[in-house]
Amino acid sequence: MKILAIESSCDETAAAVVEDGRKVHSNIISSQIAIHTLYGGVVPEIASRAHIEKVIQVADAALEEAKVSLQEIDAIGVTYGPGLVGALLVGVSAAKAMAYAAGKPLIGVHHIEGHISANYIQAPDLEPPFLCLVVSGGHTNLVIVKDYGEYEVLGSTRDDAAGEAFDKVARAIGLGYPGGPKIQRVSEQGDKNAIDFPRAKLSDNPFDFSFSGVKSSVLNYLNSCEMKGEKYVQADVAASFQEAVVDVLVSHTIAGAKKLGYTKLAMAGGVASNKALREAMSDACKKRGYKLYYPDPILCTDNAAMIGAAAYYDYKRGLISDLHLNAVPNLKLGER
Ligand code: KG4
Ligand code: ZN
Repeated sequence: MKILAIESSCDETAAAVVEDGRKVHSNIISSQIAIHTLYGGVVPEIASRAHIEKVIQVADAALEEAKVSLQEIDAIGVTYGPGLVGALLVGVSAAKAMAYAAGKPLIGVHHIEGHISANYIQAPDLEPPFLCLVVSGGHTNLVIVKDYGEYEVLGSTRDDAAGEAFDKVARAIGLGYPGGPKIQRVSEQGDKNAIDFPRAKLSDNPFDFSFSGVKSSVLNYLNSCEMKGEKYVQADVAASFQEAVVDVLVSHTIAGAKKLGYTKLAMAGGVASNKALREAMSDACKKRGYKLYYPDPILCTDNAAMIGAAAYYDYKRGLISDLHLNAVPNLKLGER
């Protein structure tokens, strides 16, 4: 079964053709990073307009690269939430129009379900159940993947998402947008033990996350350097901040696996492409004999191949949308 998938929830306009949820025939991504860099972050209205300009182009490119026509496609999958409402609406409208014109089934996909499903593309042997750490610019969740399309959220962030903290700290130390990859690069020259930034633990749910404390701590550190007339070492701040975030992500995930008895773990989302996180999580898993899965960086950050994978498993469960499908900006995982 070949699915044409569309993703437009934030700042990437993407389309892909995916067969049986695992085999990627094309994965086209048109990034808006260059436009939003001018403003230091994603401007929702500009994102919507850029999606409108690109969505048909990327869908055509995905079909062309996969060497299939719209008529040869079996279904259309599209992200309908969560995300920026105007951005989501562009993808949803385009997908509905294509599904109607070609007389194909339409499948509305949850964006986070897409991120998790990127692991099915990367690892053909991976089957649920497993425990998945989802870390992106908008989300930080520890998710129990009980079965295809069946999730239980074990822990979530109470404030900033991990990627959001990377982006805010990057801006504060003059690295600009998008912060994650820039902090990773600069950290390679820094000392991760130079500054002891805090690791938040929440007493009422040990699997919940909080990143506003570490972010404020970085800002306080920068302020105190300025007050003392001292110059801070950018690479040391970046490396120490990254270490604090990675530490929390790894310790929460391992604690969750230990408590619930999972030995199969996965990571997903933009921050899952972070090298320090991959290394630390791999080490922690190796020590305990756990099997760890994570997608290639191109499948970690927003893309449509992951949406095609999730759409396939939704379709198999009979979850077909109709042409009333609408964008749901704050869609919860497991909700429809
Ligand atoms: O999954 P994604 O593309 O979009 C959302 O669904 O939010 O994630 C984007 C986030 C951004 O905050 C970006 O800074 C972060 O992922 N990110 C990284 C890295 N690459 C992207 N964070 C840390 N290290 C990276 N290498
Ligand atoms: Zn995402």
